[in-house]
Amino acid sequence: MSDVVSHYSGSGDLVAAIRDALTNAGVDVDGISTLALAPVDEFHIRGRAATLEIAEALAINDESIVLDLGSGLGGPARTLAEVISCQVTGIDLTPEFCETAARLSEWTGLADRTHFAVGDATALVFPDGAFDAAMTIHVAMNIADKTGMYREARRVLKPGGRFVVYDVLQGPGGDVHFPVPWARDPSTSHLVTTEQMRELLHDAGFTVIAETDSSAESRDWFAAMAARMAESGPPPVTFAAFLGSDFAEMARNQVANLTEDRIRTVMFVCR
Ligand SMILES: C[S@@+](CC[C@H](N)C(=O)[O-])C[C@H]1O[C@@H](n2cnc3c(N)ncnc32)[C@H](O)[C@@H]1O
Repeated sequence: MSDVVSHYSGSGDLVAAIRDALTNAGVDVDGISTLALAPVDEFHIRGRAATLEIAEALAINDESIVLDLGSGLGGPARTLAEVISCQVTGIDLTPEFCETAARLSEWTGLADRTHFAVGDATALVFPDGAFDAAMTIHVAMNIADKTGMYREARRVLKPGGRFVVYDVLQGPGGDVHFPVPWARDPSTSHLVTTEQMRELLHDAGFTVIAETDSSAESRDWFAAMAARMAESGPPPVTFAAFLGSDFAEMARNQVANLTEDRIRTVMFVCR
């Protein structure tokens, strides 16, 4: 098992852990809404709100076939499938996440529009031009070979198709405080700066048509989450289901990393 996969893989049965946490809170998983799953399956800063921005930026419709690189538990794929009625294929390095993503799609009734497979974003099995659009959310932080990743994204996209990258980037404020949700130490963390990211996307053959730095909104998102938790406690299930008890420290570090400008969240809309 690679270090990245072992970072994300829990010690038990993730589907059972999510189901039990929801059931104990009185939530029936059959027919559960994507909104109710968002605290555990939209595994990135600014959660579902960021995914809705991406859905808009992808310029897709109900006939589109979309690729999600590093799809995690499948929250972003399901949100797209639900709001746009498109087909989404997600690939992810972590087998447990792919299995869980498929089950959560069954619970939400979106299994016919979302498909998940184990795969490496730097070596895709899909033929050239297989997808109308592609997205990747908070994944490249784990990937040293970003050139390979973006070349592959470009290869499997139809000409003119959009590619949206929403990632955590290195800020000017200094080295990241670990642990963070994507890595417990620097060995599996590969952040680049905004300038380097622009260059990487350009070199892979993309034209960046929009670039949005949402770091201030990301700080607000953490503050709003902390305020909600102080008032009404945590939601029934959170990222702690797979990150374990370290999650609280990871969240505190993310706030410090954002406040000290050690990390930034940036979205690139490419064609
Ligand atoms: C922070 S999670 C984000 C998951 C999802 N994109 C989301 O926003 O909910 C990062 C994901 O990237 C995946 N990942 C890391 N390296 C990868 C690679 N080389 N190929 C595919 N997936 C990868 C991990 O397994 C993990 O599921």
